[in-house]
Order: sequence, then structure tokens, then C-alpha cells
Amino acid sequence: MSETKELLDPQQVQTARAWVAAARDIFVLTGAGISAESGVPTFRDALTGLWARYDPEELASAAAYRRHPGMVWKWYQHRREMVAAAQPNPGHAALAELAGRKTLTLVTQNVDGLHQRAGSQDVVELHGSLFADKWLDGCGRCDIATAVPGEPPRCGTCGAMLRPGVVWFGEDLPRVARFRAEQAAQHCDLCLVVGTSGLVYPAAALPGIAKDEGARVIVINPQPSALDETADLVLRAPAGACLPLLVRQDGA
Ligand code: OAD
Repeated sequence: MSETKELLDPQQVQTARAWVAAARDIFVLTGAGISAESGVPTFRDALTGLWARYDPEELASAAAYRRHPGMVWKWYQHRREMVAAAQPNPGHAALAELAGRKTLTLVTQNVDGLHQRAGSQDVVELHGSLFADKWLDGCGRCDIATAVPGEPPRCGTCGAMLRPGVVWFGEDLPRVARFRAEQAAQHCDLCLVVGTSGLVYPAAALPGIAKDEGARVIVINPQPSALDETADLVLRAPAGACLPLLVRQDGA
């Protein structure tokens, strides 16, 4: 933590703190990086990222699920268990605290539920949730009948499979979540972009919408990202160490 404080330019931190304090309406977009300090792997980090170790085409599409339902179901079970064992970090907590004082819309690409567990009450989940299974092509009256270990549960009436409630490649974002995110981006005067590579659309377009409408944009990421160009200020630091500095009111 102290190392990060030393790495951060105090002048930049001061500026960011002042912008946060003055903001009337804050829009926050988070990505996998905010959960990295909780021990949850990101997607695109070169060595540890999920997509460096697994082929997304084999795990994160409806076609893959139909081909290998047991394998994909088990992979998501594994991720659920890992995330359930993780704890929210000070970055998640800082955003929950800020929402208690400011008008703030928290939009996340994460499916891990850690923002909610840190106390954020209204989280817009753009990519769904690991903890909200739904039916794949169900009959409308689906009910779990059978659950063979290692296989997805199936409906007793139509045989449909339960599937993870996450957005897979080739699928649309949940309509209400996307609408709320776009509205919030349009109306904010400060946009915080935390822990995302900015490579996945439509989420990655949201900071640009905020910027076009006149908002200031702050990127928090220890590595360069595709959204650095959109930012008025880039804080090159891990979110768990940096966000508390921006949010804390005691001037420390
Ligand atoms: P990525 O894995 O693409 O990017 C994670 C970002 O977090 C990188 O830019 C890292 O530099 C940064 N990062 C790492 N540690 C950090 C830390 N401690 N604090 C702050 N930043 C840190 O993850 P996302 O941008 O979230 O989609 O990926 C977007 C989407 O791609 C995901 O939601 C997922 C994936 O395919 C779906 O599953 C639909």
C-alpha cells in the first residue's frame, strides 16, 4: 500500500480527490481489475488472465455449452466457488462508501457479486451474474428435476438445461442494464473507469459517451488500457490501493 502511494503522483491524487469531492453525479465503470486484489483472475492479463489459460470459444458461448455442457458447467461451478471464497477489497468498499454520500451509478462488467458483498446496493450488472442461473431454451414452466453431479441440472418437463446467467460471446447485453448504463454515462459529470482493458463493447463505449457529454474521465489501472486516451487523468495504480485515497474525507 505505501509503495503504491509512493508511485502515485501526489498532485494527481489531489486533483482526482478534488474532482470526486466536487462531482454532482458520478458514473463508475468497473472491470475484472477491481477484483484482482481479491484474488479473482482477470481475463486478459498475460500470464494469469482467464483467456490466457482457456479458450473463450470453448467456454463462454452458447454453442460451446451445447457441445460440452458438463465441461462448461463445471468450469462455471469452479469460478462460482472461487469467487464465493474471495473477499471484497478496499476498492469495492470505497465505491460502496462513496455511493452513500453522492449520486453514483455503479456499472460493472464483473459477474462476481463482490460489489454487492462490499455494500453497494444498486449495481448495474452489464454482463450478468455467476449467481443467477437461467434456462437455455426452456419451456416457460421449467423446474429442476434431475441434477447429475458434474452435469447441468435439467427441467423435468422439457429437458432444457440450466445455464449460467452470464452474457456469452455473441449474446446481447441485458436490455435494462444497458439502458441504465447509457443513461448514467450521459448524465454524469465525473466518470471513473476502474480495472478494465476497455476492449469489450458496448461497455467500452460508455466512458466516451460520458466524455462527449462533457464529463471528466479518470482511469484507474496499473497498466495501459484502451481507454487511457479518453481520460482526463490516468492513475497508474491498483484500484484497492488507489480508490480509498480518492474517497476518504479526512485528507489523508
Ligand atoms: P480484462 O482482463 O480485459 O482487463 C482487466 C484490466 O484490469 C487490465 O487492464 C489490467 O491492467 C487491469 N488491472 C489488473 N489488476 C488491477 C488492479 N489491481 N486494479 C486496477 N486494475 C487492474 O477485464 P475486463 O476489462 O473486465 O466479458 O474484460 C471485459 C470483459 O471481457 C469481461 O466482462 C468478460 C471478458 O470477456 C464477458 O464475460 C461477457
